[in-house]
This record gives sequence, C-alpha cells and structure tokens, in this order.
Amino acid sequence: MADLSRQQIDQLLQAAQQAAEQAYAPFSGFHVGAAILTQGGEIFMGCNVENSSYGLTNCAERTAIFTAVAAGALSAGRDLLAVAVVNRDGAICSPCGACRQVIFEFGPEAIVIYRAQSGEIAQTKAKDLLPEGFRLR
Ligand code: THU
Repeated sequence: MADLSRQQIDQLLQAAQQAAEQAYAPFSGFHVGAAILTQGGEIFMGCNVENSSYGLTNCAERTAIFTAVAAGALSAGRDLLAVAVVNRDGAICSPCGACRQVIFEFGPEAIVIYRAQSGEIAQTKAKDLLPEGFRLR
C-alpha cells in the first residue's frame, strides 16, 4: 500500500490512546491501546485485558484484530492496512511476538506504528517486524 498520511497516523494514534483508557491491567499496571485500519477504511480499537490467571491475558493489538474479525471486517486474510499501539502513559511499547504473528496473518504489508526503543514513534512493516512469519498456507 501507499504510505499512510500524517492525518491517518494521527487518527490511529489518537484512537489507540483512547482505547488504552479502557485497558484492564490491574496486575501489570501497563495500560495498552491499539487501533487498526482495514482495507475497507474502518478503524477498530482494542485494549489489553489481563486475568488473575496471568497467562490468559490478551494484548491490545489482538483484541483490536479479533474484534475486527468478529465484525466481518478482516475476512480476506491480507486486508489489514495499519496497526497503532500505544501505552497509555507514553512508555515504549512495540508489539510482542504473539501479536506480530497475528498482525502478520492479516497484513504482512501492514504498517505498524509504535513507540520504539529510541523513544520516537516508529513505522515498520509487519513483515519486517516478523521476518519469516509463520504461514500455514
Ligand atoms: N501488552 C499488550 O497489550 N501488547 C503488547 O504488544 C505487549 C504487552 C500488554 C500485556 C500485559 O497486559 C501488559 O501489556 C504487560 O505485559
């Protein structure tokens, strides 16, 4: 896809920030929000949802993507255009390995926007964040 416009990036970051307010993160205190853009031009939001049984935690990016799938907006397999992920408090936060694989499933070419180790907002293609991502077919 063509690069995202500054306006699209800002809109996604803003939606992700809004979603982070809904995070259920009583155990880590790390509140994450994500917003995704689909080929159809729709934006879906998600937050992390933790659990007393820690391993059941769902990350913000996966919440957003699963919500879009459930809404029938990400059915074609490759129509995820962009993902923005933020920590509510501005901390560095790039997608975890599990989320990279889930993003890759729906959009290897998707632009992933996150606050990198440098402290700057980075934009990286999903396939570059996860080289040789797994694909069953
Ligand atoms: N978390 C996300 O929501 N997305 C990521 O990509 C990294 C981690 C959440 C999971 C957990 O609730 C908290 O951040 C601390 O790991």
